[in-house]
Amino acid sequence: MSHQVTVQPSGHQYAAEAEETLLAAAIRQSVGLPYGCQDGACGSCKCKLLQGEIELGVHQLKALSEAERAQGFILACRAKALTDVVIESHEVVGAGEFAVKKMPARVSSIEHLAPDVVRVMLQLPAADPLRYRAGQYIQFLLRDGARRSYSMASAPSESPQVELHLRHMPGGKFTDHVFTAMKEKEIQRIEGPFGSFFLRDDPENKPLIFLASGTGFAPIKAILEQMRTNADPREVTLYWGGRKQQDLYLHDWAVQQCAAMPHLRFIPVLSEPDADWSGRTGFVHRAVMDDVPDLSGHAVYACGAPVMVEAAQRDFTQQCKLPEDAFFADAFTTEADKAGAKA
Ligand SMILES: Cc1cc2nc3c(=O)[nH]c(=O)nc-3n(C[C@H](O)[C@H](O)[C@H](O)COP(=O)(O)OP(=O)(O)OC[C@H]3O[C@@H](n4cnc5c(N)ncnc54)[C@H](O)[C@@H]3O)c2cc1C
Ligand code: FES
Repeated sequence: MSHQVTVQPSGHQYAAEAEETLLAAAIRQSVGLPYGCQDGACGSCKCKLLQGEIELGVHQLKALSEAERAQGFILACRAKALTDVVIESHEVVGAGEFAVKKMPARVSSIEHLAPDVVRVMLQLPAADPLRYRAGQYIQFLLRDGARRSYSMASAPSESPQVELHLRHMPGGKFTDHVFTAMKEKEIQRIEGPFGSFFLRDDPENKPLIFLASGTGFAPIKAILEQMRTNADPREVTLYWGGRKQQDLYLHDWAVQQCAAMPHLRFIPVLSEPDADWSGRTGFVHRAVMDDVPDLSGHAVYACGAPVMVEAAQRDFTQQCKLPEDAFFADAFTTEADKAGAKA
């Protein structure tokens, strides 16, 4: 039994099976709805139900509050259609461009970039390459049915290798394995590409702020590589935040990019620096607000810890005049985030 989903204002229509969410059906049929975690935690897939009935699954209240629900908003990643429905969602051009595929991936190398961060290179099937946009992510399909998401840290290329940056979360199901048992040549199953966090074309070439915390740098690195390849003329200021210097695990890479990309500036920010740190300090999103109190002419791409992404979205739009539709983000939500306040 399937129901028809109509997306406004585009008028696109697609079918959703009774057991799949509106988002899963859209991804399957390459309809470009915006989304991030696919798990009811980030709020990126929030849209308005204009007609019809849905069943809404468990989600975080910070992703969709009770007040928003009362106003007719839903989360596409948690909603199953009970009737034909009409939703209002601003589709993302290019989000459904590359088909989502499952494939085996061989771990070709594991390299420590910091005590709690590794660079994992995955070898993917050369005959059926993974096509993606810089900024998107893949999911590891674990044996017990769980999934874990990681952003590609390398721009798409002819190479069948992709680069990932993984931070160890002690007690975490997947990263405990990565940091204690994963070996080179190990075979994993992955699926992708997912997500709508990638650089939008902009005829106005508005200056860009890239904001990363910790391994939120991974998709930003891929986007920078892509901009360099494309000789993208936009001005970029990259703010990368961590607690200690070791959290900025590719600091020197970022400095080198500035030499190769004349439009790029790099501002590292530490919240708990050692005495010998002479750079910026404090919360990374506050550094942006200090430098650019009026963000009305900018576009912001933020990635990393959910708390940083939420603070940046709130403060930039409420205090720095950033238009709501000029903020793009991927929040790295984890099981711990999902265990928080639920509806
Ligand atoms: C779109 C997206 C992209 C991402 N990209 C990256 C990336 O590029 N790099 C990266 O490092 N991470 C990324 N992440 C985060 C990543 O997907 C994992 O969530 C993270 O690596 C933790 O996985 P894990 O299995 O090791 O830990 P989990 O099993 O998810 O546990 C995480 C932490 O929560 C605790 N925990 C587990 N269950 C509970 C519970 N019920 N209650 C309270 N605490 C609990 C664990 O002890 C652990 O400390 C991304 C996430 C998303 C959504
Ligand atoms: S994609 Fe739906 S809440 Fe994150």
